[in-house]
Amino acid sequence: MCSDQIRQGRLSGERSANLEHFLASMDADRWIAEADLLVDMAHLLGLRRQGILDEAPARALMAALLDLHDRGFPEKAFDERFEDIHAGKEACLIERVGEDIGGRLHMGRSRNDEVATCVRIRLKQEIIVLARALVDLRRTLLDLAAGHTDTVMPGFTHLQHAQPTTLAHYLLAYEQAFSRDTARLREAYARVDVSPLGSAAFASTGFPLDRDYTARLLGFSRPAANSMDAVAARDFALEILGDLTVCMTTVSRLCEELILWSTSFVGFVHINDAYCSSSSIMPQKKNPDVAEIMRAKAGTVAGALIAAMTITKGLPMSYNRDLQELTPHLWRGVVATRESIPLLAGMIGTATFDAGRMAAEAGKGFSTATELADTLTRDYGLAFRTAHRIVGRAVRYGSLDLATLEAAAREAAGLSIVDLGVTEDRIDAVLDPRNAVAVRTVPGGPAPSAVAVQLAEGRDLLARDAAWVEAVEAALLRAFEDLISESRRMIA
Ligand code: ARG
Repeated sequence: MCSDQIRQGRLSGERSANLEHFLASMDADRWIAEADLLVDMAHLLGLRRQGILDEAPARALMAALLDLHDRGFPEKAFDERFEDIHAGKEACLIERVGEDIGGRLHMGRSRNDEVATCVRIRLKQEIIVLARALVDLRRTLLDLAAGHTDTVMPGFTHLQHAQPTTLAHYLLAYEQAFSRDTARLREAYARVDVSPLGSAAFASTGFPLDRDYTARLLGFSRPAANSMDAVAARDFALEILGDLTVCMTTVSRLCEELILWSTSFVGFVHINDAYCSSSSIMPQKKNPDVAEIMRAKAGTVAGALIAAMTITKGLPMSYNRDLQELTPHLWRGVVATRESIPLLAGMIGTATFDAGRMAAEAGKGFSTATELADTLTRDYGLAFRTAHRIVGRAVRYGSLDLATLEAAAREAAGLSIVDLGVTEDRIDAVLDPRNAVAVRTVPGGPAPSAVAVQLAEGRDLLARDAAWVEAVEAALLRAFEDLISESRRMIA
């Protein structure tokens, strides 16, 4: 293997291993090594097609690239002496086919457009994986919700019993959030899906490259419109990290809730043993460790976003080496999220919900007081504020039976609800948590009929997102297959 071919001309002197390690991006570059070969093939096909490179060297270079593709990178390509995989790979090529041939691939190109292209390719693949994981999680939530449209539970505000709802209504609230996360990724995908290749260092190149052609070969929708922006921009990475941070914030809330719900004093859910750990000292313990780690991963992803933004914020145009330091944060955020989502789906899907405990809690804390005030307003003609004051006063007295309500009405409003026709039976019916759920039929509400609409709409959107995932993945795979075939044809 020849020595570092990039430093030879301008720079002299040996560098310590520490210094080489400090500068190198080899660990993160393992993410993009394969993509880098695709970028090389596309660039090479473009050079040949435009007549920039003769047939003989083009064929020799392509044979070497395909060999790397078929057999994998030799470990020496990742030697930190080369700083990055782009230089390590070029050294490999030169070693194989000599500099007169191997030294021609980098015409009209810089590592700046090369790395940006590689990162975008890999990120598109990761977005597809993430979107599919979200689709699967949503399907789990929708299926679970479908079985719990009649499972009445207490709903909370300020973590105080507030009003009755159903488990289905609750699960669909999370499904909505994950549906928006999917939509955000779909939108972001379109902004990641542009090719920097051909931008070279930043000012493009005098070689007559066909940027549309290489963009198409690599499965991009189009080339980036401005070559300086193409190498300098990392807002696509910030955007994805932002989207993942938002998503993981919801994941964290759900995990927090599972942790709370699985405590002995709430007891709404039993998390499957597989997702729990025990204690080294307390033999009775069943701890929700997966949910706890996942709650913490939200911090990891948010940290990656903050790191990436802070790295980017002071950078002048165009490429600065700082950008190399950003990329590992992008992958850290991606990994934490793509590991979490399927595990969350598994944890929720295998959990058992205690409908009895939920029903027992549903009416506690005077959770049907709103419905009682609404009924006094709707059916007996009181102003809502008057009804609110009467019921509130009765709660202060500690009971919502007719006698207490009547006393409260006389004291707080100077009127008699008995005179208005309110009966004990009517009050009993209204205070039943199932009634409070049943009457909330407005769109978005917890009544089974309203939840059925939400379920149907959720499934509809899910099917469309699932189809999108399959379509973009198929298009990307087809582009890569075509690129490899085209490359093999060159040397056939
Ligand atoms: N390893 C570098 C990165 O990740 C590749 C680009 C290097 N460009 C340069 N001019 N040094 O950003």
